[in-house]
Amino acid sequence: MQWWRHAVIYQVYPRSFADGNGDGEGDLPGLLARLPYLADLGVDGIWISPWYPSPMADGGYDVSDFRDIHPMFGTLADADAVLREAHALGLRVITDLVPNHTSDEHPWFRAALGAAPGSPERARYFFRDGRGDHGELPPNNWISAFGGSAWTRVEEADGSPGQWYLHSFAAEQPDLDWSNASVLEDFDAILRFWFDRGVDGLRIDAAPAMAKQPGLPDADYGGVLQFRTVDWVDNPHWDVDSVHDIFRRWRAIADTYAGDRVFVAEAVVNGAERLSRYLRPDEMHTAFNFPYMKSAWEPRALREVIDATLEACAPLGTASTWVLTSHDEIRPVTRYGRPTTSSAFITDGAGEVSDLELGTRRARAAALLMLALPGGAYVYQGEELGLPNVDDLPDEVLQDPMFARSGGAMRGRDGCRVPMPWSGTQAPFGFSPDGVEPWLPQPEAWRDLTVEAEDADPRSMLTLYRQALRIRRETQGLYDAGLQWRQAPDGVLDFERGSALRCVVNLSGHPVPVPAEAVLLASQPLENGELPHDAAAWLTVT
Ligand code: GLC
Repeated sequence: MQWWRHAVIYQVYPRSFADGNGDGEGDLPGLLARLPYLADLGVDGIWISPWYPSPMADGGYDVSDFRDIHPMFGTLADADAVLREAHALGLRVITDLVPNHTSDEHPWFRAALGAAPGSPERARYFFRDGRGDHGELPPNNWISAFGGSAWTRVEEADGSPGQWYLHSFAAEQPDLDWSNASVLEDFDAILRFWFDRGVDGLRIDAAPAMAKQPGLPDADYGGVLQFRTVDWVDNPHWDVDSVHDIFRRWRAIADTYAGDRVFVAEAVVNGAERLSRYLRPDEMHTAFNFPYMKSAWEPRALREVIDATLEACAPLGTASTWVLTSHDEIRPVTRYGRPTTSSAFITDGAGEVSDLELGTRRARAAALLMLALPGGAYVYQGEELGLPNVDDLPDEVLQDPMFARSGGAMRGRDGCRVPMPWSGTQAPFGFSPDGVEPWLPQPEAWRDLTVEAEDADPRSMLTLYRQALRIRRETQGLYDAGLQWRQAPDGVLDFERGSALRCVVNLSGHPVPVPAEAVLLASQPLENGELPHDAAAWLTVT
């Protein structure tokens, strides 16, 4: 079976994982030194968020050179060392490719700014004249994911107000025009560059953004000027059909390499049918499961999204994936402790108080549910420690462009990007050497959530993840087995994976009996042979 069909992939956000050179920022030597931790955790591979040179206007998703490593993170030699060592430990490595846009400091964009309207340099991007008598209005009504118009006006070489360029995200992230042949050719070479270096796969950032409807017509947002792409139908700058030509071209390249190289789509689109188009046999291999990630902690919603996922994947021959969180989301222990347990968007639920004890209890159960489902799964760094979101970061440290672009209305995603706590009883908790301040401050309370503190604690989140991952790997026949629901009381999710494993998740509001002798692992201790509310258990199939 291809490795990615059942792999648990650990997402590394390199700036916040481990600081090897003591400058307060995570880096590749730091990651290299911690790879044994990940092997020991029991994951099958890692996905590394962008590690390229970048002015960091959007946490590295603004790339100024697609074939190098940010000096903050190290060098290409460090990347090679990470690849080598990860492979030696049996870990696959997926890197992040950000093809929809470049940084505004990318030489392509600098050249476009310096060139005249209508030049080949500008044709790599979307430069257009403005509307209005003096071109003072944006060329159309498109909005940016981070708030405001998707267009920014430039100053021409003679100092006069000039054309506008399109950016679906921050102004520092100009969109490339993928109908331009040189863009296609350059990216062919970029794919080969990383495949030749040995990466096992690429996660394709913002995949549905890459094609635009010719003529760039106004969009109909139905009066909701927010980037809720899941609601968008026939939008001229999202999920436009011609995007699939790009992925077909890329798949042909990946297929020339040995070793099951994989493309993972980041594609938040309108429903399973639209998503399935990205997963056709000659396009991408797999995709993040956003509907699952955003689901409420509610039995009917969970069951529906599980069934919908499995139904959508089956005819495509792809494997489902499951995920609770990422570098863009509210951390699960915080989210599940709020009255609103679904997350439509990062800042939804902000302002709601979180009961972290409840959230942690549910996050433990959610981990067992996710890891029992058929297919692959993603674990975001710190999830295995049960880190909460840091929602009280002072305004002046916030770096997410969402914060500034929304005029402070959205606090953004920094709260889930606070550096990992490894050891010790005070910041920087082994992330950096003592005395060095990490790029985002860590809460004092994280002294109880360090890897060191959780390591030997049988009740810790870390121990739960380690045990679950070990059982998952060692259970014969698990990867091949589908999912069969069992009859269960209201509010209880109960399924078997063939004869390999049974999983019971209790959201019924009261304890439910389970055969205690069959329990392999439980998120909470059984009470008198019963699984408490908001808990999950793995059992042998009897
Ligand atoms: C993706 C990334 C996010 C980034 C955006 C623009 O959604 O996950 O972090 O801001 O793309 O590249």
